[in-house]
Amino acid sequence: MEHMEHSCRTDAGARCDVCGLVSLVPHLKGATQVVAQCAAMQAVLKRAARFAANDAPIAILGETGTGKEVVARILHANSARARRPFVAVNVAALPAELLESELFGHGKGAFTGAAAARPGLFEAANGGTLFLDEIGEMPLPLQAKILRSLQDGEVRRVGENRSFAVDVRVLCATHRDLAGRVRDGQFREDLYYRLKVLTLEVPPLRERRDDILPLAGRFLGQERTPARAFSSAACKRLLAYPWPGNVRELQNVVKHGAALAIAEEVRDEDLPDEVTRTKPASRGPLTTLAEAEREHILRVLDACGGSQVDAARVLAIGRNTLWRKLRSMGTTPATGGRP
Ligand SMILES: Nc1ncnc2c1ncn2[C@@H]1O[C@H](COP(=O)(O)OP(=O)(O)OP(=O)(O)O)[C@@H](O)[C@H]1O
Ligand SMILES: [Mg+2]
Repeated sequence: MEHMEHSCRTDAGARCDVCGLVSLVPHLKGATQVVAQCAAMQAVLKRAARFAANDAPIAILGETGTGKEVVARILHANSARARRPFVAVNVAALPAELLESELFGHGKGAFTGAAAARPGLFEAANGGTLFLDEIGEMPLPLQAKILRSLQDGEVRRVGENRSFAVDVRVLCATHRDLAGRVRDGQFREDLYYRLKVLTLEVPPLRERRDDILPLAGRFLGQERTPARAFSSAACKRLLAYPWPGNVRELQNVVKHGAALAIAEEVRDEDLPDEVTRTKPASRGPLTTLAEAEREHILRVLDACGGSQVDAARVLAIGRNTLWRKLRSMGTTPATGGRP
């Protein structure tokens, strides 16, 4: 398959003349050369290029595994803060009390076990960027504290009275519908409006078909395997699969294929079952629209591990609509697993 060259892919470390960004993003372990062959992803990077120099907070939205952290790292690497720290915190991974002292630090004796004062991650990120991943899960009381830091550029350690100034650019990401969380009373409206000024939406992989094979090729190159490429049957499978877990799922599928490959090519039988169960577009018997719809719905539901929430998202229809369709097909929600 032919791809439009985008220099994001070719000139490691150089500035890309399509999106204007340095697209080699440093990690502690090596660096990621960002793949952006499709127009949708190039549009995201062009928008990111306009935001990078700004110090305002940015909300990065997108389904799980789409590359939100990669985009956050690009923003940092292309800002005047690039030589200062990039500190990432997964908000969902810590209980509320711990999260507060992680982010803001604590004074000596602030709580049992706080034998010495300790700076928080805001201070660790001073001069650089703080990336709050899964911000949608942040407990309400902490949201108030974050808002205050964003507005005043100050932090106060837990158990201390004085605040001090920090110079931190805050980026945050979520796979949640933040507006919905606001409606449900789980996310502060004032913080939502503050974060929503600049947003970047990373599209799901199923809307970036042109990125699938270049990404797969890049991931394969990172594996120890005799395989250097994918067979054409394997490519068809990769292109036909709806990727509910997005780029991260693709990365894992490539690992699977690389581990089973015995020669120069990863064959379709080296790919995991959920990918090969997806029928590549075939010239089967002609069917009615209703039959085609039924088959397609079941195929997507299967690829999503039975999750109607994920399947509805892939199908771009509402959950209730999907439920009604399943019911009219005689396939009521017992179709396995999650709602
Ligand atoms: N455009 C890309 N080019 C190269 N690698 C990518 C790209 N997008 C994502 N990846 C890789 O895919 C994996 C998932 O990306 P990342 O962690 O940024 O996703 P995420 O949206 O933050 O996921 P989650 O919602 O689960 O936190 C990472 O290993 C990342 O390096
Ligand atoms: Mg992430």
